[in-house]
This record gives sequence, structure tokens and C-alpha cells, in this order.
Amino acid sequence: MAKQASQQGLNGFQDIRFGMFIHWGLYAIIAKQEWVMHTDRIPVSEYEKLAPQFNPVKFNADEWVSIAADAGQKYMVITSRHHDGFSMYDTALSDYKITNTPFKRDPIRELADACARNGNVKLGFYSSLLDWHHPAYRFRQESGLAWSDYLDFLHGQVRELCTNYGEIACMWFDGDWPRHAIDESNAYFQAGGSFEYEKLFDMIHTLQPQAVVINNRHAEPLPGEDIQNFEQDLPGMNAAGFNESTIYDYPLEVCMTINDHWGFSANDHNTKSTRHLVHLLVRSASVGGNFLLNVGPTALGEIVPQHADRLRGVGKWLKANGESIYGTRKGVIPPTGVSVSTRKGDTHYVHVLDYISDSVTLTGVPESITSVRLLQGGAALALTRSEGKVVVTIPEASRDPFDTVLVLT
Ligand code: GLC
Repeated sequence: MAKQASQQGLNGFQDIRFGMFIHWGLYAIIAKQEWVMHTDRIPVSEYEKLAPQFNPVKFNADEWVSIAADAGQKYMVITSRHHDGFSMYDTALSDYKITNTPFKRDPIRELADACARNGNVKLGFYSSLLDWHHPAYRFRQESGLAWSDYLDFLHGQVRELCTNYGEIACMWFDGDWPRHAIDESNAYFQAGGSFEYEKLFDMIHTLQPQAVVINNRHAEPLPGEDIQNFEQDLPGMNAAGFNESTIYDYPLEVCMTINDHWGFSANDHNTKSTRHLVHLLVRSASVGGNFLLNVGPTALGEIVPQHADRLRGVGKWLKANGESIYGTRKGVIPPTGVSVSTRKGDTHYVHVLDYISDSVTLTGVPESITSVRLLQGGAALALTRSEGKVVVTIPEASRDPFDTVLVLT
């Protein structure tokens, strides 16, 4: 039997519900998102020239952590190494790393320290399974290296991340797909064998028993994976078309961009509204999922101010309504056209997201429910039950512009 995260770790991860995803790397210099090496067909020798230019002097770990904390985000997942192969921490397994740039510092060390100082934000790591730079991944034939050399590197880096930065919330993997869909004509897409997941996940669960393992792009989690992840897709919606719409009996996580890209994109101003972000968080929680919301900091090390503003806006709503999100599980009161629900034990939270009339009409409300009140302010509302339906009228003055939460007990 493959090891899984401890029950305590798994529960703890679900309780925190909202996290900050951070895509940050050399690609921020070009400012055309994290795939630019591939999309612009930049040779390794050219792309490498970004490293001596990287100097994010405005990076301040405490500031990033405080933005997350203000947003009500209780964990962050940062790209330790993305597909471009550049390590954003002081790895002993490669010279292609941030501590060899003019910046010299290890931002992951600084974030780990800042998270510890803050106490309310946990740290987790994204790791790319594929690598467009590593000779044993990309240039096996030319380099005379073997697939096992790449595995030593990949597993070795995960060991470093699970050993050197204290207790972590999760390990988050991405870039598995080339193994399934190898395009021989395209050097970017050749993996040399299996990633030996069983060994990899086992190591994580041994070194960090509380940490959950998340692997993007698997419709059904593999043994040793703890969370089913949905990318740019609310579970059940299949909006992204990755055939992920089957929801397995696992804790879920939804990851999404705050605009339309993961890595910093200078021309992408399509920032989601605060209201929409609150709705994505609430809808994720209502199906039993965490919401991991991405920001792509600039090459100077700043979280885009507009993004920070939106995050703070979500935080403001959470400050008044967090009880209906943190520590909750999937709702049992079915969604309607205007509402979804979450649950904590016998307390049910109905989130009214929109008003097409003055009331919300619910079905499937457990018989034990006899009263309803507003979460904000606590005023009791009338609950009428007839023909299996519960109708609650919400006074106009009590409506939250994003989500009015009703507490049913
Ligand atoms: C996609 C992108 C990748 C990004 C990931 C985040 O897989 O290709 O760049 O890191 O989404 O989920």
C-alpha cells in the first residue's frame, strides 16, 4: 500500500481552503509568461543569458507573505523549478540557479523564514517533472547521460525541498504529460521513462508526513497522491477541456490564474474582479476544494499591485465570512441557480451569490434544520418550508455585494 499524507495533514490542508500560487522565474524578464522558452523557440544557450540579468531587488518575502495573509490565504505554492529548468532556490544539484545570479539570495529560504515569522501562512513547492534545460532530460543522446541521471536530479531536488525548508504544506507536480504524449519531432516533449512516482511520493510522505502530494493533470489520483487537482476549471464544469470533469472521492484543489497567464505577462491586464474571485473561492469550497489562486511576480520581484489589491479585496470579504469557508467541507444542500453551500458538522452555510428575486429557494435542506440567520450581524431570518422546499427572503439592506452567507442550523 502506498503511503499517503497523515490524516492530520490531509484534514489540515482541507481546512485552510485558500492559497497563493506563485509562478516566478527567469521568464519574468521577458514578461511573456512561463512558456516563452518553448513558444518563442529560444535555444538553451540564449535563454541561459537571462540568468546574469536576474536581479529582483524589490523582492521582499515578508511583503509577499503579508499580501497572502491579508487575502486570507493560508498557504503558498511557489515554483521551485519550472519547465525552463532554472532553480529558484539554492539547490546543490545544479549551477543553473538563482543564487548564481546577481541577486545571489535564496528567495525560498526567505519565504520559509517569513512564513514562520507570520505563523498563519504555510509554504509548499511546485516542481516541474519535465525540464527543458537539464542535459539528462533534454539532451540525453548528445550528453551520454541516462534517464536515471535525470531521476536522480528530480528526486534529489524534491529531497532538498523536503529537508531544507522546515515543515511544508504540499508538494505540487506538473509536466507529467510528455510521458503520455511524446511528440518525437519536438525535443521539448521527450521524457525518457517513468518518473518513479511511487518512490518519489513515498520519500515525500516519509520526510514530511503531514504534506499532501498534488499532481496536476491526473484525472484520477495515483497511489500516493492525496489531492485531485483541477486546473482553470471548477470541478464538474470541465471548462478547460482536460477531461478532468470526473470528480473522484478525493479532497480537491482548484488552481487558477488571476488574469489569463501564470508567469508574469506584461500585456495581460485581464484581471478577474474581486467579486468573481470570491465566487471562485466559494464555489471551490462548496464542492470540497481548496482554491489556489496564482500571481506571477515581475522580474524585479513585485506582486503586481492590481493583483495585490484584488487579493486584499477577497481578504476583506473573508474577514467577515471566513467561518463559512475555513474548516468547511463539501456542501450537502444542493446548489441552485444563485447559491451554493458549504458545511461544518451540522451547520450549513448557504452562499447567495446573486439575486434574481428577493429570496432563495432551496431543496434538499436536512429536516433537522429549523433556523436561519445571517452570518454577518447574526440577524435571524424567517425560514418557510413547504412541499420539500425551503424559502428564505433576504432583506435588501443585508445583502453582501459578493456573497451573502446564511447560517442554517
Ligand atoms: C499548465 C501550464 C504550466 C503551469 C500549470 C499550472 O500546466 O502549462 O506552465 O505551471 O498549468 O497549473
